[in-house]
Amino acid sequence: MRGQGQGRIYSEEALTEIRARTDIVEVVSGYVLLKQAGNTYKGLCPFHTEKTPSFTVSAEKQLFYCFGCGAGGDVFSFVMKIENMNFGDAAKMLADRAGVALFQDESPKARAAREKRRRLYDCMEAACVHYQAVFANSQEAREARDYVKRRGLSEETARCFRLGYAPRAWDSVLRTLTGSGFSREELVSAGLIIPSRSGKGHYDRFRGRLMFPITDISGRVIGFGGRVLDDSEPKYLNSPETELFRKGRTVYGLAVAKNSIRRESGAVIVEGYTDAIMCHQFGFTNVVATLGTALTKEQAETVSRYAPQVIIAYDADAAGGAATLRGMEILQGVGAGVRVAVLPAGEDPDSMLRKYGKEALARVLEDAKPLTAYKLYRIASQTDTSRLDQRVRAAKEAARVLANIESDVERVEYAEKAAKMLDVSREAMLGDVNRLVKAPASSRVKSRRQEGQDRFEVSRYTSFKDDIARSGEVAQVLKAERLLLRLMAENKAVLEMAAERLNWAELSDERHRALAEAIQASQDTHSERGERGSSPSRRAIEHIEDGEILEYAAGILVGEDEKLPDDLKKAAEDCINVILEYKLADRIREIEKELMSLSCTGEMQKSRELLAELGCLKKRISEELQPFRGTS
Ligand code: UTP
Ligand code: MN
Repeated sequence: MRGQGQGRIYSEEALTEIRARTDIVEVVSGYVLLKQAGNTYKGLCPFHTEKTPSFTVSAEKQLFYCFGCGAGGDVFSFVMKIENMNFGDAAKMLADRAGVALFQDESPKARAAREKRRRLYDCMEAACVHYQAVFANSQEAREARDYVKRRGLSEETARCFRLGYAPRAWDSVLRTLTGSGFSREELVSAGLIIPSRSGKGHYDRFRGRLMFPITDISGRVIGFGGRVLDDSEPKYLNSPETELFRKGRTVYGLAVAKNSIRRESGAVIVEGYTDAIMCHQFGFTNVVATLGTALTKEQAETVSRYAPQVIIAYDADAAGGAATLRGMEILQGVGAGVRVAVLPAGEDPDSMLRKYGKEALARVLEDAKPLTAYKLYRIASQTDTSRLDQRVRAAKEAARVLANIESDVERVEYAEKAAKMLDVSREAMLGDVNRLVKAPASSRVKSRRQEGQDRFEVSRYTSFKDDIARSGEVAQVLKAERLLLRLMAENKAVLEMAAERLNWAELSDERHRALAEAIQASQDTHSERGERGSSPSRRAIEHIEDGEILEYAAGILVGEDEKLPDDLKKAAEDCINVILEYKLADRIREIEKELMSLSCTGEMQKSRELLAELGCLKKRISEELQPFRGTS
């Protein structure tokens, strides 16, 4: 958490003092060559590889943001990121630089530990550069280059994912990296070399393999996967767990994919490195991969921090199917909305793209099924419907799945689908299901958690088709919210108007709500203190604690070369109308749907409440939105 380091809380005064005496442009210039461009400075992003500068620093706002990889924040975030420091260490470094006394010095032990970690990162980066250079230039790597070409990976893709080649020699990385000043101990802890059995020497872990660097979220190399070029075993050799690399916590490709995941509010998880890479090459840039292990809770949490919706697109084999069910449960457990893309038998996303092309995969992703549908599909696909005994068994299994669906409408609809898939009569299927539904709840073996999941899924399913139709609208609204926030930070009158017409809770993105609150809070304290001078965006940022939100907010506030509209107030009004209209219309749709399902069960009280709310909403639309539309 910001403001806290090694159990200590830095005084607000000290932090304010550091901010006042530090210029982000100067600090960044120590790492990045910056060129002035109007009010901002631009350079090549130090957090990802790029050829045209999308890394932007605003002197006025004291913020940085990379429009290529989404890294962003204030001067503290910058130092934390580039030096891989926690907030405390970054504050200390900036305090030293600015001549502000924070408090006692870092302990020698803490300093040594930090230095060691930094060396490890450097070591992994150096190894990555080495493997890349061998891949690109050496005669020996020709086989590897041919292999990559044969698999249909473009040179650009290889560069983007920093593919490399580990030559067959026993001491290639060993010699190169010790030559650059890394010790053997360091190379061992980085997992790059292994002590030989005799105990005397060391040898390279990766030999004769195509190298896939594995990075953390900010793109720093923390491990490798190495693939053989033929059919020998093991197919992939991975880095061991090290101080930097924890398999169960790492998601392959996230550094490259994270922006697109955020943009699309959805991620796709595949099984293999090559699947992820090929997807990116074909333009599916929100794809990440697990590292050959079952999806862990930590990985699920990491991915769902970037997007509320996740599609699992595992290999279409038995192992893939089992892993898919487990993965879905884990993702649902962390609150993500999950669907499953069902690939043609025997294919993985990589092979599918190469055989059938982009549209085929796009279709499969679009048709991704929610959990119940997927369970039914699995039952059906394991059933030989020409045999009665199999149909009976499958119908029983399906009935158990169906009985757990809460909504009657939903259950009947799924039951009809299941009946068709299993080639049994609709009445018989429903009969089986109803018997289970009527049975005492305990015999349905349903945990509380499952109940929640089913309910969640019901709403997912009923709104799924609409979701697609509405995704354009959602993007529209998110865009309006972002622009509005920027305008609010620029202009006090806009802020006041927005605060009057909107409830921050009506913003559809959690980060937008946090930023709105921060802007308002900064305005309030600003008026109280009667300060002048510092830019409103800059002050707003100081009210954000969460690093992730800060990063996102920096992107909004810095704004990509977009000129602000001339009439700020008019633009803000338009944004507010878009937001309100969507919010109100969405709630109306929800209520109408609910009313429809209530009419079957006859809950009068609830219906009356909903009708009353509906009335209010329609009134709000005519009162709050029509007049504005009239003027435009
Ligand atoms: P796959 O065998 O499906 O990988 O294993 P892939 O990416 O499709 O491989 P190819 O190159 O197209 O044949 C999925 C993932 O499991 C891990 C790797 O992370 C791989 O990407 N794995 C697989 C290993 O770690 N070791 C292995 O021996 C095999
Ligand atoms: Mn494959």
